[in-house]
Amino acid sequence: MNGTTRTKDRTLVVTGASGRTGSRVARAAEAAGMTVRAASRATGFDWADRTTWAGALRGADAAWLAHPADVGAPGTAEAVAGLAEAALSLGVRRLVLLSARGEDQALPAEEALRASGADWTVVRAAWFAQNFSEGPLAEELRRGELVFPAGEVAEPFIDVRDIADVAVAALAGGERYAGRTLTVTGPRLLTWAEAVAEIAEAAGRPLTYRAVPADAYRETLTGFGVPDREAAFLTEVFATLLDGRNARVENGVREVLGREPRDFSDVVREAAADGAWRE
Ligand SMILES: NC(=O)c1ccc[n+]([C@@H]2O[C@H](COP(=O)([O-])OP(=O)(O)OC[C@H]3O[C@@H](n4cnc5c(N)ncnc54)[C@H](OP(=O)(O)O)[C@@H]3O)[C@@H](O)[C@H]2O)c1
Repeated sequence: MNGTTRTKDRTLVVTGASGRTGSRVARAAEAAGMTVRAASRATGFDWADRTTWAGALRGADAAWLAHPADVGAPGTAEAVAGLAEAALSLGVRRLVLLSARGEDQALPAEEALRASGADWTVVRAAWFAQNFSEGPLAEELRRGELVFPAGEVAEPFIDVRDIADVAVAALAGGERYAGRTLTVTGPRLLTWAEAVAEIAEAAGRPLTYRAVPADAYRETLTGFGVPDREAAFLTEVFATLLDGRNARVENGVREVLGREPRDFSDVVREAAADGAWRE
């Protein structure tokens, strides 16, 4: 083989296929001629229930692994190790894991995949630009104010479509990307305040960002009904990710795709046109 893999007619299991990244991975894989098998609770696959794994994996060629909630959550490494073992026993050797850049808590899950014997690729992503337009932060922002413990740190928010394109290119790249950890970011650093200011301008509404200390944020989460342990975990992860270590742009998208990553402004313009921040 010359280092590339025919993607056409191959079946890709896409975990989290109804989520932010999985939906785009599914679209990019279909555009590359792959058959997509959506794997989430809606289709009978549950990360928390091993008896559902074989049904999702049997007969597939590769799998995109996106653990729900957080790749660094307690138990994720065990789940990734178990799922990889199940995949290998069914002949599914090519596994690509979505991880988070600079998240110490995610390292055990990455290591579990590397140690599994699979043809693995880890995609370490920056903060999703779509966190502002889809999911709980978007809901909060629609109400007028985003409260978050990000201080004035800068982040190169990534368009999840670029993560999807990298994932599919890594699958198509065969041996070239097996055994590799790819770090992907957007092209430009923005603080949370700058990001929200861009969104406010595009949405034509006075939306604001209010920085809070980690402890206060933890209390806010528990106030919203998030269980205390989960709130403590999330606050710790955010404190890790937002301590300045990630305030730099990296070139994974350019390396794999041979083009620049999409800019935050593009995501914001399109999401605003779709009414993402409409009252
Ligand atoms: N947000 C970021 O900025 C960022 C950055 C880097 C990495 N990540 C990583 O991205 C991952 C999350 O991906 P995402 O944001 O694209 O997902 P998401 O939008 O939160 O969607 C979650 C997906 O997982 C499925 N799901 C939820 N619980 C499940 C379960 N028990 N078993 C099987 N499927 C389940 C959901 O579908 P059903 O409801 O049908 O099950 C849905 O498709 C996490 O591992 C996180 O660490 C996030």
